[in-house]
Amino acid sequence: YKLWLQYNYIEDSDIRDNYLSHLNSVQYFGDSETINVIKEEISLAMKSLFGNDYLKNINKNGLIIGATSNLNTKILKKLKNEISNIQKDGFVIKQVKIGGIKQIVITAKTDIGVLYGTFNFLKRLQTHQSIDKINVIDFPKVDIRMLNHWDNLDRTVERGYSGFSIWDWHRLPNYIDTRYKDYARANASIGINGTALTNVNSNALILTPHYIEKVKAIADVFRPYGIKVYLTARFSAPIEIGNLETADPLDENVAKWWKDKTAEIYKEIPDFGGFLVKANSEGQPGPQNYGRNHIDGANMLADAVKPFNGIVMWRAFVYSEHDPDDRAKQAYSEFVPYDGQFRDNVLIQVKNGAIDFQPREPFHPMFGAMAKTNLMMEFQITQEYMGQGTHLVYQPKLYEEVLKADTYREGKGSFVAKVIDGSLHNKKITGIAGVANIGTDINWTGHHFLQANWYGFGRMAWNPYLKSSDIAEEWIKMTFTNEKAFVKPVKKMMVSSRETVVNYMTPYGLHHIMATGHHFGPGPWVDNLSRPEWNPVYYHKADENGVGFNRTNTGSNATAQYASAVKEIYNNIETTPEIYLLWFHHIPWDYKLKNGETLWNGLALKYQQGVNEVEEMKSTWNSLKKYIDPQRFKEISMMFDVQLNDAKWWRDSCLLYFQQFSKKPLPKGVEKSK
Ligand code: GCU
Repeated sequence: YKLWLQYNYIEDSDIRDNYLSHLNSVQYFGDSETINVIKEEISLAMKSLFGNDYLKNINKNGLIIGATSNLNTKILKKLKNEISNIQKDGFVIKQVKIGGIKQIVITAKTDIGVLYGTFNFLKRLQTHQSIDKINVIDFPKVDIRMLNHWDNLDRTVERGYSGFSIWDWHRLPNYIDTRYKDYARANASIGINGTALTNVNSNALILTPHYIEKVKAIADVFRPYGIKVYLTARFSAPIEIGNLETADPLDENVAKWWKDKTAEIYKEIPDFGGFLVKANSEGQPGPQNYGRNHIDGANMLADAVKPFNGIVMWRAFVYSEHDPDDRAKQAYSEFVPYDGQFRDNVLIQVKNGAIDFQPREPFHPMFGAMAKTNLMMEFQITQEYMGQGTHLVYQPKLYEEVLKADTYREGKGSFVAKVIDGSLHNKKITGIAGVANIGTDINWTGHHFLQANWYGFGRMAWNPYLKSSDIAEEWIKMTFTNEKAFVKPVKKMMVSSRETVVNYMTPYGLHHIMATGHHFGPGPWVDNLSRPEWNPVYYHKADENGVGFNRTNTGSNATAQYASAVKEIYNNIETTPEIYLLWFHHIPWDYKLKNGETLWNGLALKYQQGVNEVEEMKSTWNSLKKYIDPQRFKEISMMFDVQLNDAKWWRDSCLLYFQQFSKKPLPKGVEKSK
């Protein structure tokens, strides 16, 4: 339940004594709700890390915590250079000598920055890093770092696999579940500063006074932790709860209704963040219902929140059955022509890939393609297409792959991360969102290891250039133990787990072959759905001649949506990285892969490799029993049984299905379940 804020007692007396020699006391400067929560956190952490050894002697080396505006000039003088380098909610942690005493100062321009610095410092203690002569300066590279909850008002969670929604609407606003505070602590500890509480397939009722009061209660808990609340805005709300006859964004009454509604929300929640909108996608209402477009819709809402410094996050996840040639092209075709026409407080929220949170997709061609529009990333933390709440898949590895991808929009080195932190096109507001995997389960995320995906998302939102393997290491140490014999194998297992899921589900660029509807197990065979693009055969196009989706210039030409350097790579089968082969090409079964195998054999061997790797993860885990408490050990061990079973299920069914087209035997080494 405590996530990565376990603050395990430091058993090693050398480390403990060294820390304690620096931590005889702590002095706080400033007076705010945020400073109060810092005091609480420090006291909780210190007691837990050091037991009763934590002394209070202000005449010896200690901690000084407070924003620069509250520190005395003596301290400020010592930190002059560092302070001038603090950006946004960044912080400095530095040891200085004052009056012969060594003080570790944690400071920032804002109290929230001080809170981030405090959590950073506590992380160092949790992960047993040296604090001798500590000198750290850090700041968030992305402005809006938020979670998107796909939580419904009846507490079910769309694509949620960890129980029900943690928002207890029935008991709010009077009953404040302690989980809200723990949620805020966990998020603040990784720098998350926003949360959209409700599903993108939204319910207009959330905008009624009855619910606004409840949202306010949550916002009040989150405020000291620097977390703003956002809501999803159902485009047809003016009709559903406002008694208007239309939701046409160009209708004056509609625009006025949204202005008034926004003012009503800000009256209760002065730091309300703004709206997240899914419009004209998968049957949701939107401006196109009235012959208007995304610009009309987004700008109308942007004007309503503008006086309060609010923002609108308008999602680019759109596709329709009326344009069935290639769903992967639709978001780009619909949005890119609008570049430069959205208000400056609109961010277009784009999923990492052009289809839908697959185990592997090439980066979305919209990244880098809208130089005059704020564009934010949407990752999925919940694992809709990756084994849901039961498979260990360390997703920061996927995030890293996408963020490192080169869009070539401004020449070589135009990484997706530069689009997201705004540096590629000099953006004023930047953002990144993750669809939460959080629910009422005692461990929050169903599978203990999936806490790492929440943690890792937050860390990469703060700094999209971090290495996912470094993040895994700190998470393991904070969550379980610093024991090397545990950290090393577990880290290895986490870091490789993403490739493993690709291997047993969708190797070589296969995608969207999950069972229709729930998207859990394999289902490449379904072929009787009303919409072609909901049908897995649409994506793999297997037949006797081969398999894969030709998206090159001889096919759907989706490759033309990339910068020319990228387009050329993907148009040519020789230069297309094999991980994307069947994403971009339809290939004969006997095509020779780089390793000399035929495509059919290679595919079969990848599925087998996926199974083997899960077996390895399972045995690694079983060898680590002595390092971890019996409950977590057992729960995780049971999850590995599920994952192994499912991996075999994927291998068996996909190979059996594709074999009817390839008409070839399974190569040596590929097993089949009885
Ligand atoms: C996927 C998912 C839906 C979700 C949608 C979205 O299609 O299956 O449940 O609503 O993405 O992101 O809007």
